[in-house]
Amino acid sequence: MSYESSMDTLEAIRTRRSVGLSQGDVSRETIAELIETATLAPNHKLTQPWKFTVVKGAARERLGEVWGREAAAAIADPAKRTAMMEGEAKKPLRAPVVVVVSTRTDANAVTAEEDFAATAAVVQNFLLAAHAKGLSAAWKTGKITSSPGVKHFLGLDTSDRIIAMVYLGAQGTEVPGSRDRRVRTTITWLDELALTTA
Ligand SMILES: Cc1cc2nc3c(=O)[nH]c(=O)nc-3n(C[C@H](O)[C@H](O)[C@H](O)COP(=O)(O)O)c2cc1C
Repeated sequence: MSYESSMDTLEAIRTRRSVGLSQGDVSRETIAELIETATLAPNHKLTQPWKFTVVKGAARERLGEVWGREAAAAIADPAKRTAMMEGEAKKPLRAPVVVVVSTRTDANAVTAEEDFAATAAVVQNFLLAAHAKGLSAAWKTGKITSSPGVKHFLGLDTSDRIIAMVYLGAQGTEVPGSRDRRVRTTITWLDELALTTA
């Protein structure tokens, strides 16, 4: 396995795209390196609120079963319930590795908000680092992230917030980038001219 790439930061930011379907295992060493790099994100008061749970191999099947059961629990019709359960159970199998990034919920609301923001920055760093290494990755969420059964399976506290389930693989098996990323952004420039005409 070789993940070497000479991509610079701006190129990585510009060319990263979500790739949710992938194949090819990623080694523990590489995942640990991605996590170490990603967690150098800005973090007010260095609270380090994040936790990573790496779900690989057959553990993805167990995660799918747990989630499938919870997702289907409220469906009365047996056929529809089974279809929902089976469909949801397959989702963690879309990539060889699912890296669950969660954050603890601080009792102080401001700290909790800042911890959430810091963890989101960590996720983006992780995606960029993975992309720079030539790997495929996508940030996924959905109702699974608030499931108590899933949190229990992952060894998380019910008060922890799952910020991302990063699907990770050595090679993408879908074509990314069909979305228009010419983003619409409002920029208000407060420069000297704005101050003199206000
Ligand atoms: C907080 C957050 C949650 C997301 N959840 C999902 C998701 O559940 N499923 C999904 O397909 N993509 C999800 N995405 C990825 C976005 O859909 C994706 O980044 C966006 O469409 C732009 O595509 P790109 O990443 O290829 O540039 C999520 C992104 C963020 C930031």
